[in-house]
Amino acid sequence: MLSVSNLSKKYASGFSALKNVSLEIQPGEIFALLGPNGAGKTTLISIICGIVNASEGTVTVGGHDNVRDYRAARAMIGLVPQELTTDAFESVWDTVSFSRGLFGKPANPQHIEKVLKSLSLWDKKDNKIRTLSGGMKRRLLIAKALSHEPQVLFLDEPTAGVDVALRRDMWELVRSLRDTGVTIILTTHYIEEAEEMADRIGVISHGELILVEEKAELMRKLGKKQLTLNLQQPLAELPAALSGYQLALSGEGSELTYTYDGRDESVDIVGLLKAISDAGVAFKDLQTSQSSLEDIFVDLVKDRSASA
Ligand SMILES: Nc1ncnc2c1ncn2[C@@H]1O[C@H](COP(=O)(O)OP(=O)(O)O)[C@@H](O)[C@H]1O
Ligand SMILES: [Mg+2]
Repeated sequence: MLSVSNLSKKYASGFSALKNVSLEIQPGEIFALLGPNGAGKTTLISIICGIVNASEGTVTVGGHDNVRDYRAARAMIGLVPQELTTDAFESVWDTVSFSRGLFGKPANPQHIEKVLKSLSLWDKKDNKIRTLSGGMKRRLLIAKALSHEPQVLFLDEPTAGVDVALRRDMWELVRSLRDTGVTIILTTHYIEEAEEMADRIGVISHGELILVEEKAELMRKLGKKQLTLNLQQPLAELPAALSGYQLALSGEGSELTYTYDGRDESVDIVGLLKAISDAGVAFKDLQTSQSSLEDIFVDLVKDRSASA
């Protein structure tokens, strides 16, 4: 459906926002591009959609080169931008119908009606945009992006700054769109969102696509948790009775840390604490922590340079 090869972007400022990114997207999948702010997500989407020019590399959409065959490529794409920009004084119906016209498609009121109904905007069709709530405005942007019947839909941070209930509605909606056969590529800086939505996840950091993986596999890697015990007495070394556990001493022997997979049901913390106490190790406090996105990136980049 989409093929990105060796894409790089250097902005006029000299800043390299994308470095040699290659990616293949299959028809009908939901792909999440996960990365922190400034990673290059919007730049990548903007190049694919033909809003920003690449410095190097090529993009094809449904086999159409997005530079040489721009109109055909762009017609296959719907883009829901990160920023909410709409004309406050137009009606819902007019703005969505007009969007379709921009792609040179003949008017199709049945299609516009179907789109508005699927987004629960039908009863607002005659409302001026400025009267819509924030959630409705987001849905309106999706309606505009779907107005010309695209095969690939890009959602750039669809739920950034959105409350939890609206986020769940948005996820529901994205799934139902996929069920209609639309390929979906969304960007997010929320791990939870990528986990909830995606079939595959690409992690982007400092302009590099550092990995692309099936969700299940990536989540196994992301789910790392750590239990830290603050010991009453520092230990010079781990008691032999505890050698079978993934334990490590830190803080000059005053802390015992246990690293485990937070999603692994077979992890037995109670059993571990009992074994520690049976080994005669007393602790005064304990905490658990979960690896943050930032930690994960650091780990991923480290693993990668170690194996390179
Ligand atoms: N027009 C521009 N000129 C120079 N630098 C830019 C421009 N647009 C974005 N950048 C920089 O490129 C990097 C990636 O930005 P962006 O693609 O918006 O990231 P994301 O969407 O992942 O937050 C950022 O460091 C940003 O400041
Ligand atoms: Mg962005």
